[in-house]
Amino acid sequence: MNKCDFTILNFDSIDSTSTYLKRTYKEQKDLTMVFASYQTMGHGRMKRVWVSPKGESLLFSILFKNKNIIDNFSSLSLLGAVTVFRFLSKYVSNVSIKWPNDVYVNNKKICGILLESISYSEGIEALVIGIGININTKNYPSELINKATSLYLETNKIFDLEVLKDDLRPFLEEMVNLIINNDKGYLEIVRNYNYLKNKVVKAIINEKEEEVVVLDINDDNTLLVKKDNKTYSLSMGEVTLHEL
Ligand code: BTN
Repeated sequence: MNKCDFTILNFDSIDSTSTYLKRTYKEQKDLTMVFASYQTMGHGRMKRVWVSPKGESLLFSILFKNKNIIDNFSSLSLLGAVTVFRFLSKYVSNVSIKWPNDVYVNNKKICGILLESISYSEGIEALVIGIGININTKNYPSELINKATSLYLETNKIFDLEVLKDDLRPFLEEMVNLIINNDKGYLEIVRNYNYLKNKVVKAIINEKEEEVVVLDINDDNTLLVKKDNKTYSLSMGEVTLHEL
């Protein structure tokens, strides 16, 4: 595996590691990685707010300007989830991947991933992947108690975030190498640890809400679902999932 030339920036507090990279990408090098202890305007998919108390999570974003990576961007969300899956599996069992880009432990979300692109008229100029992993959080508000978890809640241990950052690095290096080489091996892990497999979910397809059964993940990263004995392939941008 080649070593990657990450440039690492650390912030105590920032609006959002992803917003920072999107704002400054022109002057940043490819593979700049931004960590923050606290985000004042962290955000997730569907414009949701991503809140994390100070010093309790790994919050970071990586900028990709390399053309090979940009060309393979459709793999990056799931590959990011597989990367976090591998990393967390060092510390805890029962880790699974929820298509398109969340990581779960014991049926609760421990990590969210957001892939954003910076486009110009001729295509995508850069990608920013933002990752939030819940590490030392001890309590969640009542509305999240059954939905969110942290490494602390799963193991009863407090983790040193600086040590975890170092541990994470080889996993991120592997992620970069796999995507540059367009290696599809990650799909096997997504399929074997597919949180949604055989679950009934509500999917909003073409503005209509349908109940579908999740069958598998296709080679092109779409979700294979079944409804009334017909199968459909759902792509990431077109569907919102609600578990029943
Ligand atoms: C989601 O589950 O909706 C995705 C959440 C992504 C959160 C991370 S935290 C680091 C980076 N900065 C952000 O503002 N968002 C991502």
